[in-house]
Amino acid sequence: MNNFTISVPASSANIGPGFDSLGLALDLYLTLTVSENDAWKIYQQSLLLPACNNYTDHFIYQIAQHTATQYGKELPTCCLTIDSSIPLARGLGSSASAIIAGIELANQCCQLHLSKEEKLQLATEQEGHPDNVGAALFGGLVITNYNEDTSVDIYRIDQLNIDMIIFIPQDELKTEAARNVLPDTYSRAHAAQASSIGNVFIAALMNEDYPMAGKMMEKDIFHEPYRAELIPNYAPIKQKANELGAYGTVISGAGPTMISFFPKGTGTQNKQKLQAAFPSYNIQQRKMDSTGLRVEKK
Ligand code: HSE
Repeated sequence: MNNFTISVPASSANIGPGFDSLGLALDLYLTLTVSENDAWKIYQQSLLLPACNNYTDHFIYQIAQHTATQYGKELPTCCLTIDSSIPLARGLGSSASAIIAGIELANQCCQLHLSKEEKLQLATEQEGHPDNVGAALFGGLVITNYNEDTSVDIYRIDQLNIDMIIFIPQDELKTEAARNVLPDTYSRAHAAQASSIGNVFIAALMNEDYPMAGKMMEKDIFHEPYRAELIPNYAPIKQKANELGAYGTVISGAGPTMISFFPKGTGTQNKQKLQAAFPSYNIQQRKMDSTGLRVEKK
């Protein structure tokens, strides 16, 4: 087996009304350098990665092992060097990136020759929804549909003429806690209203009508109103970004990171103003990643 590297972007799911359906790939990355070895070794180079003392407990190893087993193959022993610029448990798709990396590790090491669609299906079965894994795999902004009885349907938008700013707070929020505050069911009127907002949102994005897209993203009633109380500075961040001319600001995935969409060319100056307004936050201007999963053979 030749050495290779796997690189997977971060992602921001939902973007307001696209709960469990929309995902946007961002230019923060999980990277694995892989070589065959006579025993398993995992070296972690980033403090953003969760500590792990035994390779069998490592999430990426577990996903790779599970994938290999699904295809009746044995994973060869490898040396992995893992690096990451994706903060954990902040709503930036760190676990989705790890799932994609694990599936690709098995794909390469066991020569599974999986198509992108097959990888998406496997990853979605692991994650339960295709928003983050779809973006991490395909790059761009993905629009997906899935239920447990079907394969994943996916469309991509690969061009967004906007600047994006993310607000990463110091504290983590576990996705499970942020899902537990959501209702189990919605009335027909609520669901119809929520999906109409999503429909207009996508139409606006496709037409590059960003003011309308911003208006719609902030109208979400699938998840934002229920999660707002879990997100520190939810209202002040929205208000400040709005004062500075943002099209819209929403929770990134399950939070607690928030993401603002600004007119193209205004991101840099607004990032500085927002950092001054929210000094305890790690505020970054990020670009969309248009490529998704990448593998480079050495
Ligand atoms: N769509 C998911 C959610 C993303 O909002 O819970 C986080 O897994």
